[in-house]
Amino acid sequence: MIAVAVNETGLAKQEILDQLSRQVALVESELQHQMRSNSDLVGKVGIHTLEAGGKRLRPAFVAVGAMATGHEFDPQWAVEVGASMEMIHMATLIHDDVIDNSSTRRGRPTAAALFGNRASILSGDALLAKATVLLSSKGNIELIQLVCQAVVDMAEGEVKEVEARGDFQLNVTDHLEILRLKTAGFISACCEAGGLLAGASEETRRTLRSYGHHVGMAFQLVDDLLDYRGDHHKTGKPIGTDFREGQATLPLIDLRGHLADKELELLRSRFGESVSQEEIRMICNWMAVRGTFQRCEAVALDHARQAMAAAEHLPNPVARELLATVAEQILQRQS
Ligand code: FPP
Ligand code: MG
Repeated sequence: MIAVAVNETGLAKQEILDQLSRQVALVESELQHQMRSNSDLVGKVGIHTLEAGGKRLRPAFVAVGAMATGHEFDPQWAVEVGASMEMIHMATLIHDDVIDNSSTRRGRPTAAALFGNRASILSGDALLAKATVLLSSKGNIELIQLVCQAVVDMAEGEVKEVEARGDFQLNVTDHLEILRLKTAGFISACCEAGGLLAGASEETRRTLRSYGHHVGMAFQLVDDLLDYRGDHHKTGKPIGTDFREGQATLPLIDLRGHLADKELELLRSRFGESVSQEEIRMICNWMAVRGTFQRCEAVALDHARQAMAAAEHLPNPVARELLATVAEQILQRQS
């Protein structure tokens, strides 16, 4: 057991950062270990997905969520829960790339492009089930229920998103609900799971849940902005993918309200696969000059601020500061 009660021990910020990087490094080893499989192909899909990188944000949220309680907790359990969350995340991305027929992610071929849809779907299933086995290591039913409910929400969110595909008129409420279900709910569950494994009070768990929700919303809103204005060398994905897939996200929903009738008709007629690269550039330019990017940034900023405000109520001041900084940095991300 390790003590991270900053008030009592006077643990400095550097120490908590060191502890976090140790935890994340241990998660990385656990993930390598978990990629072993009786099937060569499942092992290859897992290793390929793992080596594609990623920010390992979810395990970090589990670790900082636990630290934020100011309680002692079992670091090995935090590693296992963090690795489970990352494996679930990996499984969802593998499946998402099959659903979206995406050939690149993080600048590399997707598992589906390299190993085919069948192997990818089944390997994603294996990863999901392995994650559940690891998550159950301590037999904590509350933790299993918390995470499984977030997975249900994520799958239902993805289904709602697929149903909304091709819907040029998708309204903002339905869209934000999709983001809550498919992204924010799972990040919220990571933060709360960290609190739960450290024996957090109901109030602290509620705070962590709220922090995770708002940070997750900000994260996905920025992701959707980068889809239109990011540098594809940094995002690893071609620009305008959402528009090309006929997926309305906040930038498009906003732009619809700032165009002349003829422009709107042009936008509607190109929505989906028929759009050319030049037209994507024109749409991005409209978004820049009509204030769409600024307004969408403001929505993301509002969520980041709510996350920072929630973090203020957490018991551990250093973890609190760390979580507030993460919320702020999400707005600056380029990939
Ligand atoms: C990426 O979002 C995808 C998600 C956040 C959720 C994906 C969920 C599923 C496929 C269903 C659940 C699956 C399992 C295995 C439980 P995005 O498409 O906006 O981001 P991207 O641009 O990175 O693809
Ligand atoms: Mg996708």
